Amino acid sequence: MTSATTRRQSSNTPPRSASALASIAVPRGLLGLQGLSRERLIRLLSRTAELHRLGDSVPQSLRSKAVATLFFEDSTRTKTSFTIAARRLGADVVDLSAGSSSVNKGESLIDTARNVEAMGVHAMIVRGKQSGSAALIQSAVRVPIINAGDGRHEHPTQGLLDAYTIAVAHQRHDFNLSGLTVVIVGDIANSRVARSNIAALHTLGASTICVGPPGMAPASLASLGTTVSSDFDKVLPIANAVLMLRIQFERHGEGPAPTPSPGASPMSIASIREYRCGFALTAERARHLRRGAVVLHPGPINRGIELDADVADGPRSMILQQVAHGVLVRMAVLEESLQGQ
Ligand code: CP
Repeated sequence: MTSATTRRQSSNTPPRSASALASIAVPRGLLGLQGLSRERLIRLLSRTAELHRLGDSVPQSLRSKAVATLFFEDSTRTKTSFTIAARRLGADVVDLSAGSSSVNKGESLIDTARNVEAMGVHAMIVRGKQSGSAALIQSAVRVPIINAGDGRHEHPTQGLLDAYTIAVAHQRHDFNLSGLTVVIVGDIANSRVARSNIAALHTLGASTICVGPPGMAPASLASLGTTVSSDFDKVLPIANAVLMLRIQFERHGEGPAPTPSPGASPMSIASIREYRCGFALTAERARHLRRGAVVLHPGPINRGIELDADVADGPRSMILQQVAHGVLVRMAVLEESLQGQ
């Protein structure tokens, strides 16, 4: 037995023989959308649509299961919607927040996760400040890990719910998004949401254009198969969907996040005023959107910076539908992750 295998064996389970260990399936979980097959993506989105149709009649398919939320970074939408999703399917939810965990006393993420696993949970939902933190934890435990956002790397359930929202808005019930152009605007270099979206949208057949100032939308993003532009006004009229992103002030350099306010001068842009001039979706700019184009934002929104209130609350906005779809997508992901557990 390898040391890695020994490490992955939970301390409250009886020892297993090498042959028994060889037959244990790798936990399912969901660490990212990059490299995920089209078949699996469509299966998850199709299940999301079924759960959508079922409404209040969703099955209690996770009764007697327990899932833990381990959030080492703030969240409103993701954590709450995972909790609601798990409870709607009948699971128990245990919440471990960074602010009240022994991580504050120096315990490592891996030791924390192993201790939670030892209590008998069936899956963990992990948000971490560092890119790769969910994968790191998955390498150390046997239960499936669902990545709820890791640094600048990925936010797979956000990518799924955004793809689902775009498909619903454009009546692509088969999730074939060929012919659609999604324009992603803002601080893409620091955005895990952008990476997950680009991966899912390309796999489903859509084209993407990433727009921002060069420090936020560098030419190197083209390696992801996206087109890079710094001219929002030029690409806006061809968009079928516009995904606006927040400036990730907290990821600009070291130290505490600066407060976003007009006149602030974070890394990569000269001023908020200049940023708005080139890259905000203002009410005036929104008039140039084509018929049927929709506006998305993963939240939290900095109203008056990247997005005007009139647009955020206007008829093209899918922002609250995204949030509602988040519960459905997360139910589908939890079901898949816990199948056969
Ligand atoms: N979209 C998103 O991840 O929001 P939260 O940070 O509030 O979870």
